[in-house]
Amino acid sequence: MKLKPTHFFIKFITPLIWKLFPQRKINAITRFSMIEKDSAVQLLECIRFTKDPKIQADLFQHVLEEFNHADLFESLAMSYSDKHLNLSIPSRENVITDTTTMEDFLKFYAYVHTGESDVNEDFELYAHASDDQLLRKIFLRVAMDETRHTVGTDKILVDLCDGNTRKARQLEIYSKIRRQYKMYTIAMKNIGQVVFNFYMAVLYFLIGPFVFQTARKQFRWNKREHLQFMQDQIAEAKNKI
Ligand SMILES: [Fe+2]
Ligand SMILES: [Fe+2]
Repeated sequence: MKLKPTHFFIKFITPLIWKLFPQRKINAITRFSMIEKDSAVQLLECIRFTKDPKIQADLFQHVLEEFNHADLFESLAMSYSDKHLNLSIPSRENVITDTTTMEDFLKFYAYVHTGESDVNEDFELYAHASDDQLLRKIFLRVAMDETRHTVGTDKILVDLCDGNTRKARQLEIYSKIRRQYKMYTIAMKNIGQVVFNFYMAVLYFLIGPFVFQTARKQFRWNKREHLQFMQDQIAEAKNKI
């Protein structure tokens, strides 16, 4: 397996973070559960794009397996927490809608295919991010399914392209580029946030001592004004009585 930057993070940083902050581990596993559930629902919408009963059955099997992954992750997260899990329900944006064309659908399905191969590598690494045996077992089991999905979605993509392998490969390359670009923008956003926080911390320590007195005066002035406001309110209420 080629070690990508995200793989490096999962392999060397995640185990440390999960050890130091167990809640982060629970949050990550809960998030995986929600992503798996969302992908199952999105895949369910794909079935109507083919009349072939064999492909329909394969797609439905895929949907069920994604739901199963969601359940496994959710049970794992719950086994780590005696508190109620913060399972916020994000709004769902259906990728496949009534206006989706066959070409758009093929692009989406190619994207699903590349996602399967990425996630399979990630889950194999997550399996070793903790000493916990149950966690390892679940991540390896899910990774094994994702490996099968990679092969299955590849075959279905070619079938959906009416056996045109060249078209399927082109769609795959296009979706890989889109995926890389998406990862790049997310990484840049995160790096930008870190740099911004660093600058703000430097400014705080450099400028802070000089504005301390002014800020204090401002606070006192506000406090006095607030007290005056409250006294006026009380006086007004008394007048009404
Ligand atoms: Fe999955
Ligand atoms: Fe999958």
